[in-house]
Amino acid sequence: MSVLLIAGSPAERSRSAALLDEAGRRLTRRGALVERLQIRNLSPQALLLADLGHPSIASAVRSVAQADVLVVATPVYKAAYSGVLKVFLDLLSQTALQGKTVLPLATGGSANHMLALDYALRPVLQSLGARHILSGIYATDAQVTPTDDGAYQLNHEISTRLTTAWDQPK
Ligand SMILES: Cc1cc2nc3c(=O)[nH]c(=O)nc-3n(C[C@H](O)[C@H](O)[C@H](O)COP(=O)(O)O)c2cc1C
Repeated sequence: MSVLLIAGSPAERSRSAALLDEAGRRLTRRGALVERLQIRNLSPQALLLADLGHPSIASAVRSVAQADVLVVATPVYKAAYSGVLKVFLDLLSQTALQGKTVLPLATGGSANHMLALDYALRPVLQSLGARHILSGIYATDAQVTPTDDGAYQLNHEISTRLTTAWDQPK
């Protein structure tokens, strides 16, 4: 199984990316071939202007096409998902996620906007043809705390949910 992790935060040090990377480690342990795409590393101009011919964009679109499973992580911004993720999803063809399984992940300042995964991100993933969208995992900032070495630690509940996310019926 080939998996693409998509980091949708514009921030370099990112809680949602910490969630994503932990999901990636779990999948690697299950024998998946895991690749990572950090949208903030793509050419900003090419991204904004939907320049599909730009090498960084072409390579990212190819990575999506080659993956069986996508794990998509975003911070909640203004009660929805990040603009960075939006411009990337806008580049993809209408059938780009056809046949794929997607696990959505998000972090937010509080639990107030936890439904953003369901009312904002899920319909977009659906419109791109995703075959199966697993129940998303939402963590508040208090559940993803900074460690002394500059990383983030997930609390027990979130860690457990990442373990069981793949056991949902497909
Ligand atoms: C521009 C901006 C808008 C935000 N809007 C919300 C929001 O509407 N609801 C919320 O719960 N958190 C909001 N937050 C907080 C982030 O979602 C939260 O800190 C998240 O964990 C950041 O993820 P990241 O570290 O991966 O970027 C916002 C943060 C920023 C910078």
